[in-house]
Amino acid sequence: MDLQASTRSVHIACIMDGNGRWAKRRGLPRTEGHTAGEENLAEVVRVCSKRNVSHLTVFGFSTENWVRPPAEVKHILSLHKRLFGRIEELNANNVRIQWIGRPFNEPGSKTPGFIQRAIEQAIADTAHNTGMVLTVAFDYGSRAELLRAADRARNHSRIPSQVTRDLINQNLYAPDLPPVDVVVRTSGESRISNFMLWQICGAKVYFTERTWPDFDEHEIDNAIKLTNGS
Ligand code: IPE
Ligand code: IPE
Ligand code: MG
Repeated sequence: MDLQASTRSVHIACIMDGNGRWAKRRGLPRTEGHTAGEENLAEVVRVCSKRNVSHLTVFGFSTENWVRPPAEVKHILSLHKRLFGRIEELNANNVRIQWIGRPFNEPGSKTPGFIQRAIEQAIADTAHNTGMVLTVAFDYGSRAELLRAADRARNHSRIPSQVTRDLINQNLYAPDLPPVDVVVRTSGESRISNFMLWQICGAKVYFTERTWPDFDEHEIDNAIKLTNGS
């Protein structure tokens, strides 16, 4: 199948939803769903890098998710430590990892120290890779990102009242990220939930009934196909 992904840049952004429902259907605790979701993400990264997807961005934990029960949050945090610890696999697949979210040294940041260190280590240990860029959104919310970008744009603008599109682009958490080509949301929800509102401006959307732990190779190809001819 010619997915045309090898000759151009393709940016897929995933709202990884439905871990809880995946577990519930199996009579398992929600935490098991998150564990399965993290394992599936590792597989999705492998498949996307083989498909020559240039950028994969995933919503790991939102600025709104901190209100979940403490035990569930603790478990999700431990899974992010695992995810950012998958250095060998990332290097084997030539994947460079980066992170977007509320900057650690700024007011409002909620990322605990052990996750900060895991993120910094993973970024350093994969910086040399030249293949797919995997961006993990953790403690991320698009409104917080845009308010900060607008604020910085205003301060950096020579004429303070003139906030331009370029200035907003330059002040996003990851200014080098290209626009999203297709945004995916799993588990039958058709909401964007404060994810990359600026970057998905011209993106296709792929809503699927599959829960995130069941989001597989076939589903990835469906999402990539939507970007063909656009
Ligand atoms: C997505 O799965 C994971 C995160 C939001 C961290 P959910 O935990 O939201 O799963 P559902 O929506 O309850 O099924
Ligand atoms: C969106 O999922 C956030 C992540 C996938 C990290 P949620 O399950 O938290 O979203 P809502 O609240 O149902 O929209
Ligand atoms: Mg959910």
